[in-house]
Amino acid sequence: MNVSEIQIAETRRPDHDIETLFPNRWSPRAMSGEAVSEEELHRLFEAARWAPSSFNEQPWRFFWARRGTEHWSLFEGFLNPYNQVWASRAGALLVVASKKTFSHNGKPNPVHGFDAGAAWVSLALQATAMGLVTHGMAGIHYDQIPQALGLGDELAVHCMVAVGRPGDIESLPEKLRDNEKPSGRRTVDEISHEGPL
Ligand SMILES: Cc1cc2nc3c(=O)[nH]c(=O)nc-3n(C[C@H](O)[C@H](O)[C@H](O)COP(=O)(O)O)c2cc1C
Repeated sequence: MNVSEIQIAETRRPDHDIETLFPNRWSPRAMSGEAVSEEELHRLFEAARWAPSSFNEQPWRFFWARRGTEHWSLFEGFLNPYNQVWASRAGALLVVASKKTFSHNGKPNPVHGFDAGAAWVSLALQATAMGLVTHGMAGIHYDQIPQALGLGDELAVHCMVAVGRPGDIESLPEKLRDNEKPSGRRTVDEISHEGPL
């Protein structure tokens, strides 16, 4: 079965009226092993570009490698063994980082990570709209990435993202197949409060 054929309605039925793009975005591990084009990646970064940020700093930075190109094995080597098993069939691997200081005064930007999170979600939603899949990964070698990418002290690394085309669940090792289903969510009442707790 292809991940795009999985019936997501059961676990992803919203309690309130929203755009279907939100519950339709999920994080499959089964990817086809096909490349993602530079043009497709540019469209994802274009979506990320329009995220809001404090002082319009736009602190997010994306570093990327496409399957079958020069930097692919470097980026693949940033993944821990668990993520390497499935993410090696992605079409592109991204590193999400952000600039820690404001450009207008050089002072620390306390919300650079928050803003980078907004940009990554924009990217993920755009990917869903394009029929691509994305999967965030914190299981990465944080200690190696800054030096390997020449980031210096100015940029903080947050996570990596596997981008790809939906793949066949049978391509996953058996132990990962059972988890290959969209997850549910806490209720709106659990995550929001009117006034103080
Ligand atoms: C920052 C971040 C780090 C994550 N790290 C991993 C990871 O290392 N390996 C993995 O298989 N999934 C990882 N995930 C995927 C989450 O487990 C997944 O997003 C979550 O279970 C919600 O499911 P959904 O994205 O399908 O809605 C990560 C997601 C995010 C946003």
